Amino acid sequence: MTLHVKPLANVGVEVSGFDINRELDPATRDALVRLWDEHAILLFRGQDITPEKQIAFSRHFGPLELHPLKTTTSAEYPELFTLANDPEKDKYNVAFYHGQEIVGRLDWHIDLHYTGKPNRGALLRAVVCASEDGMTGFGDLAKAWDALDAETQALLQKIEVTYAFSMQRRHMRYVNVDGYEPGPFSPKKPADIRFPDFPEVAYPAVHTHPVSGRKVLGIVEQFLERVVAPQRAGLCNDEAVELLERLVAHTRKPEFHYFHQWQPGDMVLWDNWRAMHCATGTAPGVKRVIHRTTIMGDATLGRVVEV
Ligand SMILES: [Fe+2]
Repeated sequence: MTLHVKPLANVGVEVSGFDINRELDPATRDALVRLWDEHAILLFRGQDITPEKQIAFSRHFGPLELHPLKTTTSAEYPELFTLANDPEKDKYNVAFYHGQEIVGRLDWHIDLHYTGKPNRGALLRAVVCASEDGMTGFGDLAKAWDALDAETQALLQKIEVTYAFSMQRRHMRYVNVDGYEPGPFSPKKPADIRFPDFPEVAYPAVHTHPVSGRKVLGIVEQFLERVVAPQRAGLCNDEAVELLERLVAHTRKPEFHYFHQWQPGDMVLWDNWRAMHCATGTAPGVKRVIHRTTIMGDATLGRVVEV
């Protein structure tokens, strides 16, 4: 099989030239894994996918992880996590943005960032596509690192930043809360939706990707809390806040992003150790179903902050 590789807008690539329903020969499999390591965000279109095939295909990229939320995994396919708009659950995910009611909008984030041990990656498949909106955005933090000036890069090599898990968007320090109002059933604390709580975790502000060796900027807006002991790097507290504001603004530049508008048969695979992602959400009542498989990693990138 000959793979065809086409750059997406700004970051990531679309890969075609293979059929998920045929056994992948070792050379094609190795080429797909290399493309994943090289580009971090891979789009596959027009594949005729079943849950079994999605699970088998995902295993080419590493062992699969079961999602920690047992209630959202399917009994038949425990490796499969279903993200679906649902009138009962949606009420917890509704919020208002400049007066507009939106379900399931998510800021830029890294999955399981708050545990200190993010999974290696994940693969999303569109099962039911939203009639409008419902996009998933991907942001390449290796390219964001490469685009920083040398002085900022040198400073970031010396610092760690922390992430503090929170259920309330308005408590997050670096997300844009202009015009934001939580919905009436928005959870106030993790226990409200039977979610565990997590202590603060610290990460280097730049890490070397355990597989590709690329430098990756460790700044992502969701849950971002503070610079650890900024004075050790010659920064006063105010300068540390301004640095994080500047870096978050940097990661929001469209040149590091690809936004995917889902069509039936689409799959996106991303490297969670290098790419952040976000969801634009939908209007209430819009049907949307995504199947997700999660690829485990054996590296621990962060550490729990001991008080
Ligand atoms: Fe996510």
